[in-house]
Amino acid sequence: MKTILEAKNLYKTFGKSKEEETVVLKGVNLAIKEGEFVAIMGQSGSGKSTLLYNISGMDRPTGGQVIFDGEDISGLSDEEMSQIRLNKMGFIFQHSHLLKTLSIKENIALPGIKAGKKPRNMVMNDTKKLMDRVGIGNIGGHDITKVSGGQLQRAAICRALINSPNIIFADEPTGALNSSTSSEVMNILNDINQNGTTLLVVTHDIKVAARADRVIYFSDGNIEAECTLGKFNTQKNNLKEREDELIKWLKERGF
Ligand SMILES: Nc1ncnc2c1ncn2[C@@H]1O[C@H](COP(=O)(O)OP(=O)(O)OP(=O)(O)O)[C@@H](O)[C@H]1O
Ligand SMILES: [Mg+2]
Repeated sequence: MKTILEAKNLYKTFGKSKEEETVVLKGVNLAIKEGEFVAIMGQSGSGKSTLLYNISGMDRPTGGQVIFDGEDISGLSDEEMSQIRLNKMGFIFQHSHLLKTLSIKENIALPGIKAGKKPRNMVMNDTKKLMDRVGIGNIGGHDITKVSGGQLQRAAICRALINSPNIIFADEPTGALNSSTSSEVMNILNDINQNGTTLLVVTHDIKVAARADRVIYFSDGNIEAECTLGKFNTQKNNLKEREDELIKWLKERGF
């Protein structure tokens, strides 16, 4: 399997002056293979979100390199970087960040239309297919304030998928959901991953991380340890076993 994303000696420092400086990423090395599902866990404030933003080109690292799909993206212009994010990456956050002035289906289609690779009717067709796939085919015309949190997060997944990205980055994708909705949303993400999309997910939730092939424990700005669980087979129904293995491992790290 080829490496799709790699961070090499990645640093991120915040603060305008030397005195105010906080070093949040401290030389992170991480390689993610195509088709992998990697979860990042760790204490609040350890730098997980900062890592996600800097490895995905949403923010600029202070030092080191990010190689994405064979290309060093560290030195790209903002415009080049936003084209890569639009065409090759998908993003999901705790809150959906959908636009209030657009309907559900317009929100999902928007990045597809922006990318300009397909005619509008084809984008709308793809939008409909994605909504059907995640079980929100009947609410496409709805206002985003009139649907549930789970439906919004499904819509956010569709939006992330509309340009068939190589990788999806998610920061606490189930953070605002109850546990049954969370598991439905994660079933969808596992399914997407099984169909070949790479996933990098930051989460506090053991039930979410237990679905990943590999869990990274982040501590004080760097990777402290890794736990390999292997690909989760949704048919096998062994999530509980995986959770137990992960809990044991996390306890050893003082989580
Ligand atoms: N824009 C910023 N300016 C200054 N400091 C920042 C900025 N963003 C993050 N930090 C600092 O970096 C550290 C790591 O923050 P980050 O949000 O990456 O943590 P996290 O591991 O995602 O935490 P949580 O689990 O609570 O989401 C924190 O000390 C935070 O205050
Ligand atoms: Mg965070």
